Amino acid sequence: MSMEAAAAREPWLLLLLPSCCASTLAYSCLAGAVLILVYFYAPSWGVRRVPGPPALPVVGHLPLLAAHGPDVFGVLAKKYGPIFRFHLGRQPLVIVAEPELCKEVGIRQFKSIANRSLPAPIAGSPLHQKGLFFTRDGRWSAMRNTIISLYQPSHLAGLIPTMMSCIQRATDAIAAAEEERGDVDFSDLSLKLATDVIGQAAFGVDFGLTAAAAAPHADAEGGEAAEFIREHVHSTTSLKMDLSGSLSIVLGLIAPALQEPARRLLSRVVATADWRIARTNERLRARVEAIVARRESDREARRAQRDFLSAILNARDGSDKMRALLTPDYVGALTYEHLLAGSATTSFTLSSAVYLVAGHPDVEAKLLAEVDRFGPRDAVPSADDLEHKFPYLDQVITNPPKTISLGNWDKQNTMLCNFAGH
Ligand code: HEM
Repeated sequence: MSMEAAAAREPWLLLLLPSCCASTLAYSCLAGAVLILVYFYAPSWGVRRVPGPPALPVVGHLPLLAAHGPDVFGVLAKKYGPIFRFHLGRQPLVIVAEPELCKEVGIRQFKSIANRSLPAPIAGSPLHQKGLFFTRDGRWSAMRNTIISLYQPSHLAGLIPTMMSCIQRATDAIAAAEEERGDVDFSDLSLKLATDVIGQAAFGVDFGLTAAAAAPHADAEGGEAAEFIREHVHSTTSLKMDLSGSLSIVLGLIAPALQEPARRLLSRVVATADWRIARTNERLRARVEAIVARRESDREARRAQRDFLSAILNARDGSDKMRALLTPDYVGALTYEHLLAGSATTSFTLSSAVYLVAGHPDVEAKLLAEVDRFGPRDAVPSADDLEHKFPYLDQVITNPPKTISLGNWDKQNTMLCNFAGH
């Protein structure tokens, strides 16, 4: 019998009805509040003892990121020490801000830190999810063990001539830009250079970004390189980890349960940021898949090629087990991941080094002397030369604080340089 029916038979019960409803409502609100608190704070529980500033409900430390930009990590390291907590919305991150500790985490303990969490911007894109960064458990180890041989010095040494031709082209581009405008945007050039090198090393495709503008570029994969790069740049620049991303990405940061429904809905609403991202990611996925399919069918030609895509497809031909592991979507994602993981990182390292050196003429003179000692301008170094004949250059790139004293900023650069054995 309902409360109302009971009250009709026993009118005195009417006196209890409002307080009963009020207490039910109060209990529901309390239960709702507890559930919301558990939902938002559950991921932080495991890292609650790691020092860090108090996190706001829902947005965590995102307002700090908005206020200080990337400098926020330097500010927090000063206050909380080399290991601290940073909450990207609901997701807590443990930041390691000391070069030796970074080596411990990123190199010595690398294999024991598997299963990375999936950042909100990646959640809607299978192409990004099927690379090494975000695959998990057995598939991660199996894929990693398969491709590790492609990082052996002997394989990398074979890519030096490719790198040299891209560097030569970039050098010509510097000369041409100097003549035309008098100065050179080195960050832009180094990103183009890194992308050209990785385009060849990963896909076996010449993107031609550093080629002279007058020479319209047609590549071996059907002249699609420029379009591919345009989509890659749009897709990469949409991977925002702050509150400036698309609505579903922002929701993913503060309430991940809502991200997928919002993404599905908004990706159908024309002209929203989610719709644009979904369209670009889909085109990019189709384009990468088409490149993989073409290369796969060209078995004879790829046998002799050194690029990552050909090498991994050759490995795939080896056994049924390999074919089951390296399906075309994973092959495409692994190859594309190189572009994503290798271009901005390398270019940032290069341009930061140039920027630092430019402010220290003594370091610059020592570096130039070392490079000049190696030989004439067109001499091509071997892998062994690179390893042994440029100790000062090596030190400048991998350990600027020892070479150049510039406070905290270059320490952060060193951390990145030494991470993960790169
Ligand atoms: C100076 C340049 C580079 C820096 C600073 C850098 C930094 C990093 C860092 C920090 C990680 C670990 C990320 C994590 O554990 O969540 C990583 C992983 C990775 N990097 Fe690099 N990287 C650089 C160059 C490259 C290049 C050139 C490539 C490929 C062409 C590359 C491919 C990868 C891949 C595939 C992973 C995932 C490895 C795995 O999960 O086993 N990186 N990199």
